[in-house]
Amino acid sequence: MSHALPSLPDPNAARMSLLPPYLLGRINALNDELRAQGVDVIDLGMGNPVDPVQDEVLAAMREALTKVENHRYSQAKGILPLKEAFARHYARHYAVELDPKEEIIATIGSKEAFSHLMLGMLGPGDSCVVPTPAFTIHMYAPIIAGASAIGVYLREEQPGAGLLEDIRRTFETVRPRPKLLVLNFPHNPTAKTVDLGFYEEAVAMARHFGFWVLNDFAYGHSCFGGYKAPSILQVKGAKDLAVETFTMSKPYNMAGWRVGFLAGSRKLVDILGRIKGYFDYGIFQCIQLSAIQALDHGDGFIKRQAQLYERRLDALLDGLKAAGWKKTIRNRATMFSWQPVPDAPKVKGLNAVDFCMTLARETGVSFVPGSGFGAEGEGYLRMALVAPEARIGEACARIGKFLRS
Ligand SMILES: Cc1ncc(COP(=O)(O)O)c(C=O)c1O
Repeated sequence: MSHALPSLPDPNAARMSLLPPYLLGRINALNDELRAQGVDVIDLGMGNPVDPVQDEVLAAMREALTKVENHRYSQAKGILPLKEAFARHYARHYAVELDPKEEIIATIGSKEAFSHLMLGMLGPGDSCVVPTPAFTIHMYAPIIAGASAIGVYLREEQPGAGLLEDIRRTFETVRPRPKLLVLNFPHNPTAKTVDLGFYEEAVAMARHFGFWVLNDFAYGHSCFGGYKAPSILQVKGAKDLAVETFTMSKPYNMAGWRVGFLAGSRKLVDILGRIKGYFDYGIFQCIQLSAIQALDHGDGFIKRQAQLYERRLDALLDGLKAAGWKKTIRNRATMFSWQPVPDAPKVKGLNAVDFCMTLARETGVSFVPGSGFGAEGEGYLRMALVAPEARIGEACARIGKFLRS
């Protein structure tokens, strides 16, 4: 006699019931459906880079693949030469000194670093503070760890003093006091940026109240218009209580390679290393060796990549204006543009999700609704700069035609 399989998700695995369906999954499913119908979809949804990896990195990969020793399990926390290359990179770009052995860990992308660090840092009864709208995992990795995430509304005119004031009030009033502040500047999804003074105040506040700070620096190199994003680790003494995640995915177009870093506080680097020791055996060594090439010799490449995003942003803003947007927002970093749902009679009353679904069906152009990053994102759209300028121009032309129809 055979028995029925246990039902899934198990009602005792409460964390599963706390996870809403991943919004990008729904949008990608709609795009697939449209493609199957023969629609030429212009997908400006996911922040998935479309441009090539540097030739020198590919050459380093080819070379590494020929060595038998590179195919074994590598070092779980990253090989020392990779961490040394990362330390050189931070010294060169941010004048930040990092001890490669104690203050840097290589990770399977920065999302992995963040998620596993949350499992190591937080548990039931704990909480962390996250400006919202937020990159989904910033809210949900703490929740998966059994903790709660307290959103602090990232308002239109912020960040700056207003956001810091809201954060201060939250740490002053919430009990038990939250353990961690999660920052992410340049920000996904809103593309907002901060200057070093913001981090100086955040670090001083963390010291005063006694909490940790993590800055997700995924878009640190994707800056333009003369702006250079600061690293939180540039603040004097930040390493006592802060860490930063960094990724090869965006600046080097190596998203599929899955390589990133966590750097800063020794204590947090150690905690992540300990928990990762149970979950994985580290990154494929050929990838680590290729990443050294990118970190050491890719400075010109990442600058050109950022300029490419800026040109695409220009094309998008021009196109949106021509399509009927009365108001557009210009950002100075990331691979995104964050814009209000247009105020056009054709789409009057539609919320961001309905607008995106309608737009995809009517024009084949795909954006992500801002509300997918939290209710605070309602009324906005995130547009990823992941198509050539001409294609972005075509997307806007299709939208303009639809809005005027
Ligand atoms: C803010 C932010 N952090 C992290 C990631 C994921 O980066 P990785 O590929 O290093 O896991 C993304 C990807 O979209 C992101 O937008």
